[in-house]
Amino acid sequence: MNGKQELIDKLTGIRSSRKSYYSELSSMVEEMQKQNMQLEVINQLTQIHVNKSWEEVSTYIASRLSQVLRFDGFVLTLLDGSDLYFYISVPEHQEWACRLVKRRMSDVSFMTLADFEKLLLQEIPDHYGTSVSLINQTGRAIGFLTLLTSSHVSYTPKELQFYKGVGEHVRVSIENILLFKDVSEKVKIEAQLIQSAKLAALGEMAAGIAHELNSPLTAILGNVQLLKRTIKEGRPGKMLADIYQCGLRSKKIIQNLLAFSRQEEYQFEPIHPCDVVEDALSLVGYQLSVSGITVRKHTDITLPLIEGSRHQIEQVLVNLLLNARDAVQGKANAEVVIGTRLVRLEERGYLSIYVRDNGVGIEQQHLTRIFNPFFTTKEKTKGTGLGLSVSLGIAESHGGKLVVDSKTGEYSEFSLLLPIPDHEGGDEE
Ligand SMILES: Nc1ncnc2c1ncn2[C@@H]1O[C@H](COP(=O)(O)OP(=O)(O)OP(=O)(O)O)[C@@H](O)[C@H]1O
Ligand SMILES: [Mg+2]
Repeated sequence: MNGKQELIDKLTGIRSSRKSYYSELSSMVEEMQKQNMQLEVINQLTQIHVNKSWEEVSTYIASRLSQVLRFDGFVLTLLDGSDLYFYISVPEHQEWACRLVKRRMSDVSFMTLADFEKLLLQEIPDHYGTSVSLINQTGRAIGFLTLLTSSHVSYTPKELQFYKGVGEHVRVSIENILLFKDVSEKVKIEAQLIQSAKLAALGEMAAGIAHELNSPLTAILGNVQLLKRTIKEGRPGKMLADIYQCGLRSKKIIQNLLAFSRQEEYQFEPIHPCDVVEDALSLVGYQLSVSGITVRKHTDITLPLIEGSRHQIEQVLVNLLLNARDAVQGKANAEVVIGTRLVRLEERGYLSIYVRDNGVGIEQQHLTRIFNPFFTTKEKTKGTGLGLSVSLGIAESHGGKLVVDSKTGEYSEFSLLLPIPDHEGGDEE
């Protein structure tokens, strides 16, 4: 018996009974398994894909860490200039779901862990947070990781050490993602520049051709009109009417092309949004009403004046109204609303003149293309596909935007947004 105990002691180096030997052994095995698991988690955290969104990064870290640490929620915080982004992940239906909370501070570039913990306590009260900083090469915090628990949890020194190591690895992954986003943004801008240079060249060429065609076309139209007066009857009369219609259509295309590439500036003047709405309706309102469309006007007389070219803004509204007319064609209860409102977008105040219709709507895959020159879904004889690109050009030359919101089969709403200098009010769009 003694010999056996000695043998066990020799073999294991543990001076203990067989029972405590087994429990020590199993706790050693457990500890090793835990360490293995931790290593596995660190390994996974070094493989965060660079094109993941920050929400995905947060849930990814949370799901991996939850294999080895106890917590109820996880926060990935990123600092950017004076903005703080909290990507808060919580378990939801066996998965992790993330939501973003954004806070603007005076300056967060030198935020310490203690400052951050104080701030987090205000943001997420009734929770305990255990945070580590993500410190970059220059010694500045680029963000923080936080384990949230609803009651106090004391992590072991080993767990805390592991968590610190996680911070170091995650920091590297996050810097890679930042770098990737930066590079892809540059590549995107470069591609846009090439595209706009191509468009500018195309525009110049088109303007030249349009200009050249304008004079002979005016002569053709004039002469056809003269001939139409004498030849009204029979086949020749019908043919002349056709020639005249085709001529008019060509003229419209040419005028759109000229407007699209027009270099000279229009006269800017203070204008009231209600006045331009009236102007546009006086041009096409009747056309819409006789097609059986209910036209509603939701304008607000108390809105401020804007600086712009009355003629050009009117042109945009006419384009939008005609598009709305085409969209509701053949629909029962066809309705087009033109209205004005104040909006805030990207922290700027804009005056919006919108045209909304309950027509066919725009298919998702077309939404990015409708502003391209010559993009049309209409029959060859109906659309030139220049209306929206001309309108977008006009919006941009006013420092504004032309935005669209649409649901296929239900509605489309186009808003011409014109900047209001130093305007603070309005709703978020
Ligand atoms: N209100 C709308 N509802 C649904 N689709 C629209 C609406 N407005 C524009 N579109 C889509 O966007 C395309 C481009 O519009 P755009 O005004 O640039 O050209 P167009 O109307 O086809 O031709 P043009 O205005 O030059 O006669 C349209 O062909 C249509 O598919
Ligand atoms: Mg159009």
